[in-house]
Amino acid sequence: MKITVIGSGYVGLVTGTCLAEYGNDVLCLDVDANKIRILQEGGVPIFEPGLEEMIKRNVAAGRLRFTTDIKESVEHGTIQFIAVGTPPDEDGSADLKYVVAAARSIGRHMNGYKVIVDKSTVPVGTGDKVRAAIADELQQRSEKTSFAIVSNPEFLKEGAAIEDFMRPDRIVIGTDDDTAKDLMSSLYAPFVRNHDRILFMDVRSAEMTKYAANAMLATRISFMNELANLSEVMGADIELVRKGIGSDPRIGYHFLYPGVGYGGSCFPKDVQALQRTAEEHGISLKVLDAVEKANHAQKSVLVDKIVKRFGDNLKGKHFALWGLAFKPNTDDMRDAPSRVIIEYLLNQGATVAAHDPVAIHEAQRVMPDWKGLSYGDSPNAVLPDADALIIVTEWKAFRSPDFTDMNKQLKNPLIFDGRNLFDPKRMQKEGFEYYPIGRQQVSL
Ligand code: NAI
Repeated sequence: MKITVIGSGYVGLVTGTCLAEYGNDVLCLDVDANKIRILQEGGVPIFEPGLEEMIKRNVAAGRLRFTTDIKESVEHGTIQFIAVGTPPDEDGSADLKYVVAAARSIGRHMNGYKVIVDKSTVPVGTGDKVRAAIADELQQRSEKTSFAIVSNPEFLKEGAAIEDFMRPDRIVIGTDDDTAKDLMSSLYAPFVRNHDRILFMDVRSAEMTKYAANAMLATRISFMNELANLSEVMGADIELVRKGIGSDPRIGYHFLYPGVGYGGSCFPKDVQALQRTAEEHGISLKVLDAVEKANHAQKSVLVDKIVKRFGDNLKGKHFALWGLAFKPNTDDMRDAPSRVIIEYLLNQGATVAAHDPVAIHEAQRVMPDWKGLSYGDSPNAVLPDADALIIVTEWKAFRSPDFTDMNKQLKNPLIFDGRNLFDPKRMQKEGFEYYPIGRQQVSL
């Protein structure tokens, strides 16, 4: 099938590449000429495990191409995916300007029946806006071509995006157009070969499903973080509590890990966008308001521990920090808790030496010229002379360090662990003062 993907970011690139992998003829468009130049020259502008090899394979096979030419891309695909960003507006609602611009360019260049598939996360009712924008463009040039609107929200997780796209839990397709339904079924058939995993519904329910899923997951995280904070004060261990509740199949083990608050490009903005949508319709989502408030507070949970230990004047203190990306296996720094922690420490007069396996270049881009912040190219490189180590992201490479060596390198054997990577009993044996989340601290 001939496919166009408008927007070649995390979602667009993964979508386009995975569809090419199953033999489709895919053209990926972006307005960012630099991104397209990198792709055309054989590079990949983002880090996503497995993506680079898959792009190379499909480009070599002639099934995957990249362009900035809007007319060429609209003319190319019978199916046109919109995978542009939907960042928060000033009031937190989803800014639809990129989605509407993409819809208008489709309307301006459409040359026959097209299925327009919205993959971006968009508020309920956006399908109607996309339809109106395209119809308006068609009318302006007296073009009578028909088209269908589909909502096909994306549920991939950065860091496991290829696996999620190739083996989805479910594929949600919202449309009232039978031709579009058939085309989408054929397109996704190879991805759901042995299982009936395509869920057809109306456009509005599909749009709502994406926000509902992210809001539910964010709620689990915030609730677990609050239970962790309480466990810590009450002398309980959240890791044992987690196992104790996760074993109930009604609760399940997923998404029960306490930490430094959720970040990234989706949960914070999608929670806010859903709240604004509700407000616009006179409904208050009280649970979600609390989720957001709890998450905001949780981003300072390590900072609070640091201040309790060192006082709030951190002048002259130097910290090593492991993990900049908002989660492992990605270089995404959008809304990353590390940014809040680093900013606070620098403002209080401390210096920070940070390491992340892949996100340093992105950190340098989003935190340019932050005085007092330096980077090291390995976990050990940032340890020397540090008053403490702060762990913010649970990369696998951080899980089994040489504690004896760490103890020698750090000025103080002191770890603030925002991801509960280590067993407190082991830390005691290794001679570390250790501050986990929701568990009892180890003092020397
Ligand atoms: P991104 O920011 O990485 O990529 C968006 C791309 O669209 C950018 O490269 C931008 O230059 C391009 N673009 C903007 N306007 C354009 C236009 N008119 N024509 C062509 N290209 C245009 O964003 P990301 O992370 O891929 O997210 C895209 C959408 O998917 C968002 O709505 C997001 O909420 C949703 N989503 C993101 C997930 C993620 O893990 N990143 C997961 C599931 C959904």
